[in-house]
Parts: sequence; C-alpha cells; structure tokens
Amino acid sequence: MARTGEPYHYDRAQRGFHWLMAALILAALVLGISAAWQVPGTSPRREILDIHKSIGLTVLLLLPLRFVWRLIAGEPAYRAPPSRSAHLAAKAAHWSLYALMLLLPVSGYVYSAAGGYGLPWFGVFSFPRLVPVDKALSLTGYAAHYWIAWAVGIVLGLHVLAVAWHAWIRRDEVMGRMWPRQAG
Ligand code: HEM
Ligand code: HEM
Repeated sequence: MARTGEPYHYDRAQRGFHWLMAALILAALVLGISAAWQVPGTSPRREILDIHKSIGLTVLLLLPLRFVWRLIAGEPAYRAPPSRSAHLAAKAAHWSLYALMLLLPVSGYVYSAAGGYGLPWFGVFSFPRLVPVDKALSLTGYAAHYWIAWAVGIVLGLHVLAVAWHAWIRRDEVMGRMWPRQAG
C-alpha cells in the first residue's frame, strides 16, 4: 500500500534490508557461479559452497522480517507520480524479486538437504534437514535452483538498468527513494 505525503523515501529499516540483502544476494550469485565451475568434492569449491549456503540461508531468514515490515510500513509516496504503466512495471519487478528471494534459497536448501549435503551457517551451527534424503528430490531442487538463479539474474539486470536510467538519464527521484542523499 502506498503512503501519502512525506517522507518521500523508504524508511531506515527498509533501506537497511534492501542494501544488506542486495549485497548478500550479489555475493551469493558470484560465489554460486564460481562454485559451479569447479570440480565437486574439491577445494576450494567446498569452502566456497559453505559460505554460499551460509549467505543464502541468511537471506532466507531475513526475508520474512523484511516482508512483514514492508506490509506494515508500505511504499513511500512520489513527489511526481510515475505513469500508470511505469508504476505497474516497477511493482511487477519488485514483487517478482520478493518471490525469487524466497524461491532461490528454498530451492538451494532442498537441493542440499535432499542430497544429504551440509547446511552450515558460517561454521557456527547447522540448519536442520527438513526433507528426506532423496536423490530425485535433490536433482529437482538443483534444476529449480539453476533456473531460478537465471530468472533472478534477468529481473535483477532489468531492475538495476531501470534504476540507472532514472538516476543518470531522467535524473528523477527514484534513486533517492532508496538512497535519500540522492534526492533532488
Ligand atoms: C546495485 C544494485 C541495486 C540498486 C541500485 C537498487 C536500487 C533500488 C531502488 C532505487 C529502489 C526503489 C525503487 C522505487 O521506489 O520504485 C529499489 C527497490 C527494490 N529493490 Fe533494489 N537495487 C539494487 C539491487 C537489488 C537487489 C540485489 C535486490 C534483490 C534481489 C533488490 C530488490 C529490490 C526490491 C524488492 C525493491 C522494492 C522495495 C519495496 O517496495 O519494498 N534490489 N532498488
Ligand atoms: C540468495 C540466495 C542464493 C543465490 C543468489 C544463489 C545462487 C546460486 C547460483 C547463481 C549458483 C550457480 C548455479 C549453476 O550454474 O549451477 C548456485 C549454485 C549452488 N547453490 Fe545457490 N544460491 C542461493 C542460495 C543457496 C542456498 C540457501 C543453498 C543451500 C543451502 C544453495 C546451494 C547451492 C549449491 C550446492 C550450488 C552448487 C551447484 C552445483 O554446481 O552443483 N544456494 N547458487
């Protein structure tokens, strides 16, 4: 739900969640891709995957907090509201990103848990295995993880391009909604 009037930017908690989770997700993408290029069972793939899983599971833990806060706090008003189609496109991208931020770590979890692999959190503890060890389920989880990662790459690419266009070409308020010092 959109708020009306000031402030014209996301609140501190929403900005904190956005930039922290963006950094975690970008790091997980880089680590996941670099692990996929290495031979299973060898070093440093194993160590990279332990960090990859720890970061991905952190995203999964943060997401419900962020989502509930988003439902409570809503979306800031615009100084100059965008066209209906531009606003719909932004909403579609944002809600797809929320869905993908859930599906990507869940599919990674199913892949690893059903494959009988570890579910570490930075060497501090291990997450419980909530699905049976099952080769077929693990392979389904892998396929889902792979394709959802592609979907994230595409939607995220569009998200960042759209923000860059607003920031550098239109020079409007959009970047300032998430990074208030940029507000013009
Ligand atoms: C360098 C990278 C990024 C930049 C510059 C950026 C910038 C922004 C900006 C300016 C907004 C506000 C848009 C508006 O008010 O219409 C926004 C919203 C959003 N961004 Fe990003 N973002 C980045 C990375 C990410 C990543 C990695 C994710 C997660 C996969 C993400 C997910 C979202 C979501 C879900 C929203 C909507 C927030 C809401 O309405 O609750 N962003 N981003
Ligand atoms: C934000 C969360 C996550 C992101 C962005 C992400 C992204 C990726 C990407 C891009 C790959 C490379 C895919 C390929 O080319 O094969 C990958 C691989 C992998 N991911 Fe994730 N992932 C996330 C969460 C998780 C979680 C929570 C787990 C498990 C608990 C996990 C387990 C794995 C494993 C084991 C691989 C290696 C695939 C292989 O080469 O066999 N991921 N991930």
